[in-house]
Amino acid sequence: LHARIFIDTRSVIGPVNRRLFGSFVEHLGRSVYDGIYEPGHESADENGFRRDVIELVKELGVTAIRYPGGNFVSGFRWEDSVGPLESRPRRLDLAWHSTETNEVGLAEFDAWLKLVDSELMLALNLGTRGVQEALDLLEYANLAEGTALAEKRIADGHPEPYGVQMWCLGNEMDGPWQLGHRSADDYGKLAAQTARAMRSFDPSLELVVCGSSSASMPTFGEWERTVLTHTYDEVDYISCHAYYEDRGDRGDFLASGVNMDHFIDAVVATADHVKAVRGSSKTMYISFDEWNIWYNERFEKVDKLTGVDNWPVAPRLLEDRYSVTDAVVFGSLLMSLLRHADRVTSASLAQLVNVIAPIMTEPGGPAWRQTTFFPFAETAAHASGSALRVNVESDTYQTASYGDVSLVDAAATFDDQTGNAAIYLVNRSEHESVEVTINLGDLAGSVLTATSLASSDPDAANTLDEPDRVGLTANDTLRSSGATASITLPPISWTQITAL
Ligand code: AHR
Repeated sequence: LHARIFIDTRSVIGPVNRRLFGSFVEHLGRSVYDGIYEPGHESADENGFRRDVIELVKELGVTAIRYPGGNFVSGFRWEDSVGPLESRPRRLDLAWHSTETNEVGLAEFDAWLKLVDSELMLALNLGTRGVQEALDLLEYANLAEGTALAEKRIADGHPEPYGVQMWCLGNEMDGPWQLGHRSADDYGKLAAQTARAMRSFDPSLELVVCGSSSASMPTFGEWERTVLTHTYDEVDYISCHAYYEDRGDRGDFLASGVNMDHFIDAVVATADHVKAVRGSSKTMYISFDEWNIWYNERFEKVDKLTGVDNWPVAPRLLEDRYSVTDAVVFGSLLMSLLRHADRVTSASLAQLVNVIAPIMTEPGGPAWRQTTFFPFAETAAHASGSALRVNVESDTYQTASYGDVSLVDAAATFDDQTGNAAIYLVNRSEHESVEVTINLGDLAGSVLTATSLASSDPDAANTLDEPDRVGLTANDTLRSSGATASITLPPISWTQITAL
């Protein structure tokens, strides 16, 4: 099999915003408790945060973290999670059928974020709560001093405001499973009122309105149009959420990036339609603030908790184990985000630790990298400057959901400050290698290095017993001569080429 790709550093899509490499920590399962926070663990710091996890989060290169949910946030009372630990109540978490102890709240999470050098993106409860509670949290978090709420924060031991810039106006409000789920019209009105009220406190806040929970929602498209019609002038971003899983057709699964491309294109078109109708000059951006591989079907059928007397603390939920194939699809989702860098300016890998996560931990035991860790860490480290439009000529294959799909997927970035470029390639073929020829354009003469994620066993994964089974390997088939380079991509593989 063969493919040819063409790199032109002048063919710019848009700047790569560092917030594209964001993630998500929800109070769900063992994400917080027994994940980032495990007092008594041998690596825990004086505040109970696992240092081994902190090191892995830093290595992953996460830039901004959405918190504290997710479905959890739609039943969350923020006041429970601040102030003296001994007076924080235990509460039911109806979203995940668990008990929330509130041992970790805003102050603790903010302190942890400083350790991992990441920005806070705070989600508001617009499910069971409304405008007043959102305003209260904003004032508590961001006002320096002089009111009851600001003084409470100071008395709670946090003299400086948290200065939260980016706020999500609820979570997945289109989903019938969401506490306080509303119609697009009702949610759009509530989101607009909340946004207007928040902006009268601080017009410079960056606000994200809820888009669809997935492109397969029955309300998809019309939801975005209605919600944006209410909120266009008040918000900066509309969210997208997408999870992919192998439903027994690997070829189809490997083409998931095509679905993500279509999803983003459709939301951009809808936002631009509302812009045109309103005669607005403002551009609406996308916060792709939940994306990942998630074996949701298994959760629904096997892991879901029930029972009025069964509300565990930090149960094992959504602890998906990721294979090489999952990581290759995951890498191609990152490529889709890069290809839309002009409109997708913020994104959150959902999630970070233990819950559909690149980082796993065992209570009292080690922390390790899942297969998906590697494409994320490499892309976050090397994709910088601007995303480039890459032309791909490739053999194709037939898929059930997307028709004829290119066997090779490609994306690239170029940083004109450093002169460095990064090229991303995926081979979707299940059994055959692909020889790729790269027209380097003005990258000719750069020093090229390639690293690939692949395995003779596409189901190979990293586990507690075998934490280092899968990793990156140098791809030494890379050759370059003048303005062209060539490389062999193994079956089901993700590859990064850096040009320095
Ligand atoms: O990330 C897991 C869940 O997926 C989130 O809580 C929710 O927003 C989405 O449905």
